Amino acid sequence: MCYIFTMKTVLTGVKPTGSLHIGNYFGAIKPALTLAEKYEARYFIADYHALNTMKDAAELKNAIRGIAAGWLAVGLDPEKVVFYRQSAVPEIFELATILAAFTAKGLLNRAHAYKAAVQRNVEHGDDEDAGVNMGLFTYPILMAADILLFNADVVPVGRDQVQHVEIAQDIAKAVNFNYKKNLLKIPEALTLENSEVVPGLDGRKMSKSYDNTIPLFSSGAALRKQIMRIVTNSQGVDEPKNPGDSQIFTLYCLFASETERLEMDKRYRAGGMGWGEAKEELFRVMNRELSPLRERFNAFISEPDHMDAILRDGAEKARAIASRTLAGLRSAAGIG
Ligand code: ADP
Ligand code: TRP
Repeated sequence: MCYIFTMKTVLTGVKPTGSLHIGNYFGAIKPALTLAEKYEARYFIADYHALNTMKDAAELKNAIRGIAAGWLAVGLDPEKVVFYRQSAVPEIFELATILAAFTAKGLLNRAHAYKAAVQRNVEHGDDEDAGVNMGLFTYPILMAADILLFNADVVPVGRDQVQHVEIAQDIAKAVNFNYKKNLLKIPEALTLENSEVVPGLDGRKMSKSYDNTIPLFSSGAALRKQIMRIVTNSQGVDEPKNPGDSQIFTLYCLFASETERLEMDKRYRAGGMGWGEAKEELFRVMNRELSPLRERFNAFISEPDHMDAILRDGAEKARAIASRTLAGLRSAAGIG
């Protein structure tokens, strides 16, 4: 008997906005890299998605380079993962045009990013669509094309993106139904949110929108400065402290060894260690673990040609996959 084992496909896109922080690392990047060990992985930089909000060319270019260097620095292996820029795969945009013909406008009216923009406008007494560009409105179509072109089985995303994956399912079903053929694979969203919620400087979820982040690749000095900003309670040096109550300890655990964790747990409970010292200890383990990543990141940033070559190579592989899906669809549609 002969079994043919085909690996399932995981795909996700990362928008190049702002610099990566340690919440992104533990909540999204690390889990995605783990998934890449078990799946055929296709990870891409969603640069045209970013254009909707980023109109400064230099800023966008930097953000794209930063995201690419970031993923490569933390261990994405471009030999194993097809890693590319969305903009380098024109098939995505052709598929988006086809999908638009199968997307009810009402479906997009209900998409949360557009709905939220309309609601903000209404609350301010503005025209419903003030400041809304068509890129924002049709965002879910482009995202559906990103996903469906590559026959993705699973799409790891934050909770706010699940609705977009559901829209991709709806559009794929409409296409398959119309041509009475399974031309497009129906993808499933995979939320990684519960894997690890990393607290920020103020104890709330670390997020760019709360301005409480610790960047992943900042210099040692900048890292130390951020750690010293962590908010603590007023317990004195001698008072025993509950490690479970402190984001300093939670962050420490993400970087320390098992032995260090147990030892630190005892030191919190025993009293005699002030918050200043707890922060120094956190800095020590974080800097130890992040230094090699930072060095790799800086090396990639200083060699943009090398990075561009990696992404070009990824785009070539992506296009080979993409052209097959697109050819099937064009032929089914009577075009091409
Ligand atoms: P931000 O909230 O800083 O804008 P994004 O929305 O760009 O972050 O998040 C990108 C990815 O990183 C998402 O998958 C999100 O779930 C994950 N992520 C962001 N912040 C955290 C955090 N504090 N803990 C765990 N995961 C996070
Ligand atoms: N919309 C996603 C975000 O804002 C990024 C993204 C674009 C994406 N295309 C995708 C994610 C396809 C998964 C699959 O985070």
